Amino acid sequence: MTDAPEIQKGLAGVVVDTTAVSKVDPATNSLLYRGYPVQDLAEQRSFEDVAHLLWHGELPTPAQREAFTAAERAARALDDGVRQVVDLLPLTAHPMDVLRTAVSVIGAADPRAEDPDPEQALAAAQRLWAQLPAIIAYDQRRRRGQDLVPPREDLGFAANLLWMTHGAEPTALETEVFDASMTLYAEHSFNASTFTSRVVTSTLSDLYSAVVAGIGALKGPLHGGANEAVMVMFEEIGTADRAAAWLDEALASRRKIMGFGHRVYKNGDSRVPAMKAALDRLAAERGREDLLALYDALAGAMDDAKTIKPNLDYPSGPAYHLLGFDTATFTPLFVASRVTGWTAHVLEQRAANALIRPLSEYVGPTRREVPPVG
Ligand code: COA
Repeated sequence: MTDAPEIQKGLAGVVVDTTAVSKVDPATNSLLYRGYPVQDLAEQRSFEDVAHLLWHGELPTPAQREAFTAAERAARALDDGVRQVVDLLPLTAHPMDVLRTAVSVIGAADPRAEDPDPEQALAAAQRLWAQLPAIIAYDQRRRRGQDLVPPREDLGFAANLLWMTHGAEPTALETEVFDASMTLYAEHSFNASTFTSRVVTSTLSDLYSAVVAGIGALKGPLHGGANEAVMVMFEEIGTADRAAAWLDEALASRRKIMGFGHRVYKNGDSRVPAMKAALDRLAAERGREDLLALYDALAGAMDDAKTIKPNLDYPSGPAYHLLGFDTATFTPLFVASRVTGWTAHVLEQRAANALIRPLSEYVGPTRREVPPVG
């Protein structure tokens, strides 16, 4: 008789590889991108600097920043072929499905998609990163019956995404809030979508396939889809005075409360204070204290009921709402940021690859004979 193997359901607690991209330390409630605390990066550096850090391992020098941002700005325009495919998709399609399809189109059109050279893969990752805002912005606009807004090379990544979405130049505060959210979403070690991208890469598949798979994993409400689900929940609850009763009922019917809890952080998400501070500034400027009151009422009730703390999606959902994004666009915004982390991991996986192929314990019927066709 053999001992039954111990099943690590959901791979919880399993360390499957090393990484130098980021460190999550739940004990000290900290997240470091290549050694730097994420909240300090969000406050002091642009998202472009953070993208450079994730891909190259170091923050850029002034000369490196100039070359890096110039390349990003030059690659922003929405490709005609991609636009045509987006236009074919029904307006009922989820924006994550549109984005996933668009990345497939970009990959299929890249003659160097299969090139194993790390330099080529890095260049492809950076071009793809530069192109996602145009797709996300255009998709939101076409749903509103609006036309494409071309990119502006004089704006940074965050400001340009807002510009292409709204056709109006964002304020300094809007840009700062959105830029900080991009930094906070960029990377989080072996989360479900990043791990998915690494699994795809481990078969020696191409970078675009890894990103498409990452988008599929991120879409789910237990992962990136939670920022969208938070806003749906806020709308369902309505006002702060209803939060506690709503929560009682939701917990009684065993609903998962979106934007709360985390697989790794059990005592609060290290990214929340920075994003909440950004949301506070934006809500104050907009006179939306009602939204903050609802935020606090639900978080307080959840703490009382289950001691479960908010994760990053909890403040980012309402912040994206105040920035004028449609609720269904929220998770694509997460992709615009996380594509940096995914592809940094793709490159790391390629550099020291081992096929990722776990085992399972079979619990189906024992061996049996195939019956004759009846
Ligand atoms: N709402 C209600 N209960 C929750 C909860 C939530 N958001 N998050 C965790 N719990 C409860 C679970 O029901 C479970 O209770 P039980 O032991 O009585 O069954 C306990 O807390 C442990 O949770 P578990 O689901 O095992 O944790 P996990 O590590 O597998 O899940 C998440 C982590 C993120 C999937 C989970 O917290 C969740 O579903 N959150 C909502 C979705 C979300 O915001 N996702 C974004 C993550 S960044």
